[in-house]
Amino acid sequence: MKPQILVTRRLPQKAMELLEENFHVECNPNDRVLTRDELLEYVKGKHGLLPLLTDAIDAEVMDSAGEGLRIIANYAVGYNNIDLEAATARKIAVTNTPGVLTETTADLTMALLLAVARRVVESDTFARAGKYQGWAPLLFVGPDVHHKTLGLFGFGRRGLAVAKRAAGFDMRIFYHDLQRAEAEVEKQVNAEYVDKETLLKESDFISLHVPLLPETEHLIGPEELSSMKPTAFIINTSRGEVIDEDALVVALQARKIAGAGLDVFEHEPKIHPTLAKMGNVVILPHIGSASIETRTKMGLVAAQNLIATLKGEVPPNCLNPEVYE
Ligand code: DGY
Repeated sequence: MKPQILVTRRLPQKAMELLEENFHVECNPNDRVLTRDELLEYVKGKHGLLPLLTDAIDAEVMDSAGEGLRIIANYAVGYNNIDLEAATARKIAVTNTPGVLTETTADLTMALLLAVARRVVESDTFARAGKYQGWAPLLFVGPDVHHKTLGLFGFGRRGLAVAKRAAGFDMRIFYHDLQRAEAEVEKQVNAEYVDKETLLKESDFISLHVPLLPETEHLIGPEELSSMKPTAFIINTSRGEVIDEDALVVALQARKIAGAGLDVFEHEPKIHPTLAKMGNVVILPHIGSASIETRTKMGLVAAQNLIATLKGEVPPNCLNPEVYE
C-alpha cells in the first residue's frame, strides 16, 4: 500500500506526476486555500503533508492527522507557517525547498526595484488609458538605478543573488547581516559590510532578504524609515511582517521615503488600502518564485523530501534533524 499524502493545492504537472507515482495523493480539488475545517479533515490518516505558506500547520493539524504523520514538506523556502517545535515534539520531520527559488526571486526583486524607480507601472497605466500625447522632457521622470547604492538586509543566498544582478548595473553594494560574509563572497560583488545605521542612511535602495523570525518582525519600523533618505526606495520580497506596514504608509504619506516595491504584505492576502492607492508603490501578489521552472522545481524538491522520509530515510532538506536522534 502506498503511503497517503495530502497536497493542499494543485502543483505543476511534473510534481503531481512524481507524487502520484509514489503515493496515494489526496489533493485539494478547489483552486483556493483550504479552510481550517477542511484542512483538519483532509489531514486525517495522512503520512505526509505538502502544504503551502498559506496553510497554518500547527499542533492541532498535526494531531488531527494522527500518529502516522511522518513529514510536513513545505512548498516554500520560508516555513513560518509551520510550528516547528510542535512537529519536533511529535517526531515529525519538516522540510522546505531551499536553493531552487533563489535566482527567480532575485530576478523579481530587480524587476520591482526597476519598476518603482523608473515608474514602469504608472507609465503603463497612463499609456493604456490613451493619455500619451507624445514624448515630453518631464514625462514620468524618476531616479537612475545604475551607479546608485543598494543596501541589502540579509546577505545569504538571496541577498547575494540580488547583489550579483545589481553589480551588473554598477551599483555600490552595502549589506548588513548578523554575520559578516567570507571575504571571497564579498569580493564577487564588491559588497561592503556596514552597520544598520549606515545602510539605512546611505542607501538609495534598500532590499530585504531576511527570514521571518521574532527578531526580524518589524525590522523596518518608524525609526528605520525616518533614517532613510527621502529619495530612497524600499523593496520587500521576503515576508511582509518584516516591515511595519502602518509605519510604511505614514512614511510614504509624509514623503520620508520616495517609494516602495512590495511583493509581500504584513496581513496577506490583505493589502493596506492606502498602499494600493499610491502611485509611488508597486504592488505584486507574492510572485517572487512564480516562474514555471521554479514552481516545478519546488514541487519536485518537496516530493523528494516526502519520498525519502516515507522510505525511512532522512529527507535532504530536513529543518529539524533532531527528530532522527
Ligand atoms: C517562499 O518559498 O518562502 C516564498 O515566499 C514563496 O515563493
